[in-house]
Amino acid sequence: MRITAFNSSPRKDRGNTHVMVREFLAGAREAGAEVENVFLCDHEIKPCTGCYSCWTATPGRCRLTDDMAGLLAKFLASDTVVFASPVYVDNVTGPMKMFMDRLIPVADPHMEADPAGETRHRRNHDRPTRIVAISNCGYPEQSHFQVLRLLYRRMARNLHCELIGEIYRGGGALLTLPIRELRPAVEAYGRLLRDAGRQVVTAGRLSEQTVARLEEPLAPIQADAAQYIQRVNQMWDNRRPEARHSS
Ligand SMILES: Cc1cc2nc3c(=O)[nH]c(=O)nc-3n(C[C@H](O)[C@H](O)[C@H](O)COP(=O)(O)O)c2cc1C
Repeated sequence: MRITAFNSSPRKDRGNTHVMVREFLAGAREAGAEVENVFLCDHEIKPCTGCYSCWTATPGRCRLTDDMAGLLAKFLASDTVVFASPVYVDNVTGPMKMFMDRLIPVADPHMEADPAGETRHRRNHDRPTRIVAISNCGYPEQSHFQVLRLLYRRMARNLHCELIGEIYRGGGALLTLPIRELRPAVEAYGRLLRDAGRQVVTAGRLSEQTVARLEEPLAPIQADAAQYIQRVNQMWDNRRPEARHSS
């Protein structure tokens, strides 16, 4: 099984998203998958111009010249694709949206009704067949992923894929903050992510039990929003003392 993660954080390997992707892929590799991590921000991805030449003049191929042809080849060579993005303004980052728009050459222009009777484009590719979503956000609650939860359901429907796992981490900054007392919790979460990576290879999807464990607070501070707010505000005050907050 081949798994490719497309990570759209501009912070790349310094980012919180990367901690999640790295551990997840390590678990998948341990279970025998061939894995690859791609940082979208290392690549030039121009915005889709909506010309539809990928459906007419050059079927399956975009007329824009940038790195997307190579990324599309990696996408189509994967059994499972991981969409990994931090939450930006309640959504995925701009580079991820550009990447998603530029996946349009993989669709067949003809439309059909899906099993629920809703219209979509016909399937025009054998692979990928499965999607995993990975994200983290700055606010502590898990509620900040509601747009992404819906987005990835729609993506899976549009791409004729199965959404086999969603891994969302509120309070994502806790993954990389240099706070020694958080290390055991971050390491335990890393082990859970590796289990999740192994599970998508061995069982084909994440179990409800694994998802429930992944949704649990990383550390007590994530569950206590007032404490989280106070610590984060202190951190910003330390970095910008002239704007010191009253709390
Ligand atoms: C432009 C921008 C918009 C953001 N919007 C949100 C948001 O809507 N909700 C949220 O909880 N965090 C938001 N964040 C915080 C990021 O999700 C958070 O810092 C995350 O840990 C970044 O992941 P990374 O280190 O992998 O880049 C935003 C950050 C930036 C830079």
